[in-house]
Amino acid sequence: MPKVATLSCRHNSPKGKTFVKTEICRRLGIALPIFAFSHCRDVVVAVSKAGGLGVLGAAGFTPEQLRRELDWISERLGDFPFGIDVIMPKKLEQGEVGDLQAMIPEGHKAWVETVLKRYGIAPLPANAEGGAYGISGEQIGWTHDLCRQLLDVAFAYPGLKVMVNALGTPPADILEECHRRGILVGALAGKVKHAQAHKAGGVDFVVAQGHEAGGHTGEITTMVLVPQVVDAVAPLPVLAAGGIAGGRQIAAALALGAQGVWCGSVWLTTPESDVEPLPKQKLLAAGSGDTVRSRVISGKPARMLRSAWTDAWEAKDCPGFLPLPLQGMLVQEAHLRIAKARHPDLAFYPCGQTVGLCNDERDCRSIVRGMVEEYVETVERLAASMNEDEATPA
Ligand SMILES: Cc1cc2nc3c(=O)[nH]c(=O)nc-3n(C[C@H](O)[C@H](O)[C@H](O)COP(=O)(O)O)c2cc1C
Repeated sequence: MPKVATLSCRHNSPKGKTFVKTEICRRLGIALPIFAFSHCRDVVVAVSKAGGLGVLGAAGFTPEQLRRELDWISERLGDFPFGIDVIMPKKLEQGEVGDLQAMIPEGHKAWVETVLKRYGIAPLPANAEGGAYGISGEQIGWTHDLCRQLLDVAFAYPGLKVMVNALGTPPADILEECHRRGILVGALAGKVKHAQAHKAGGVDFVVAQGHEAGGHTGEITTMVLVPQVVDAVAPLPVLAAGGIAGGRQIAAALALGAQGVWCGSVWLTTPESDVEPLPKQKLLAAGSGDTVRSRVISGKPARMLRSAWTDAWEAKDCPGFLPLPLQGMLVQEAHLRIAKARHPDLAFYPCGQTVGLCNDERDCRSIVRGMVEEYVETVERLAASMNEDEATPA
């Protein structure tokens, strides 16, 4: 049985009430229904230690890099549980790297180069390493083949208790393997029909992710999506994602029927996060209106900080987006060049609308503590409002 973290959440509650412990918390042996998605190992460790569950976004790591990250995490977490997230899309152009590269039109490559030239972005030095936001090297993340290699690495770690897939239902053999190893499997859903497909495919829980979220995101907002998904997949547990950065939003998510929350953007501006200083500064300064849903990263709509780069992809001369994984292959080097050039206008980063709520650099533990305190205050405020014995207006 994993250790349960003992983050105190009593001090704001005169009656000494603790945070709600939902069924999924019990199954995982975690104290708080707070799941932290991050590509950064320090965030994963900090949130798992604070009583939630850190989930490492593995997309973009090579198997060797992932092994290094998981060694580091396991050394620090001991028996505390953590999770891994991969991206195995339902629909993906198939082929060898060379064949896929040949499918990228020359006109697209030339246009990307024209935009970079306009801003004086230098080519990469010969020995450049990856890392714009977890994206690395020449590997094409997101192929089922690479994800299987990543999972084979991850399965060696006994602390791994959760596996989540984005952009599709995890394949049946992977689900079976996870279940055999006692790992709970989840999948992200932006629509009710995605959630129903995940349930039919055998997942243990669904992450209902709304429009306001960072990263790949659909059209339906969290407030509207979560109760529909909860009803559609009952009795499967649902985690609410998108737009959640504080305790009031956690209370709202649980009120909508979710068993917990899955947050990504709120960790980006923490000292534990490995986001480079320039995009981090831009994230700290940004308001909720400064994000945009763009297909620039992968060809599928994803929310990110708006910048001159995302604007260029909306301009009249833009040749348009390519399908998965060609768009990612087209821009991979450009994104690395932009990150390395530290160009203030072009710099961007995937993030959700909660970016407007994250205006100071607080560490993960303080954020979790703040979430707990605000949750307790909120629930008590709501409970007190029920007790007020006021005459009902005629
Ligand atoms: C920088 C960034 C990268 C992301 N990459 C992934 C990913 O690789 N896999 C995934 O399942 N979700 C990814 N997401 C989405 C998160 O898992 C999560 O659903 C989302 O951040 C929740 O909404 P929030 O950003 O409002 O907290 C990413 C989000 C961000 C902000």
